[in-house]
Amino acid sequence: MSEKLRLLAEKYLSHSYSPYSGAQVAAAVELDSSGGGGEIFGGCNIENASYGGTVCAERVAIWKALSEHPGAKLKRVLVLTDSPTPWPPCGFCRQVIAEFATPTTEILLANKSGVQSTHAFGDLLPLAFGAADLKG
Ligand code: THU
Repeated sequence: MSEKLRLLAEKYLSHSYSPYSGAQVAAAVELDSSGGGGEIFGGCNIENASYGGTVCAERVAIWKALSEHPGAKLKRVLVLTDSPTPWPPCGFCRQVIAEFATPTTEILLANKSGVQSTHAFGDLLPLAFGAADLKG
């Protein structure tokens, strides 16, 4: 399944709208089999002349996925860049991933040579702030 994610991300890498940074980033997410039917969705970074209006590839892919499958959880998130060193998700994206992650959500970091490392999401955002904190 990670190969399917990689191929989808590769397609979206060419859709990147990044005239300001010149950095092409794509993401592909796989949803859980119960809420999300195991479906996969891709996205790319979409920059904005205001700079602040830029949205990262991960969030584009997650919002596409969650707007199709409300209530779904993320099984895997693959991030693909055109840089030699793969890029990990930024802090904003980690917080958005946390909203839909499970204890087993995996983050795969890839460049054009393939997936270079796989991480448990909990290792990327320990002590994440979430819905439970608002109740407590
Ligand atoms: N970017 C992403 O798409 N994902 C990340 O996790 C890090 C950064 C994009 C945003 C911007 O278009 C460019 O990379 C440079 O920051």
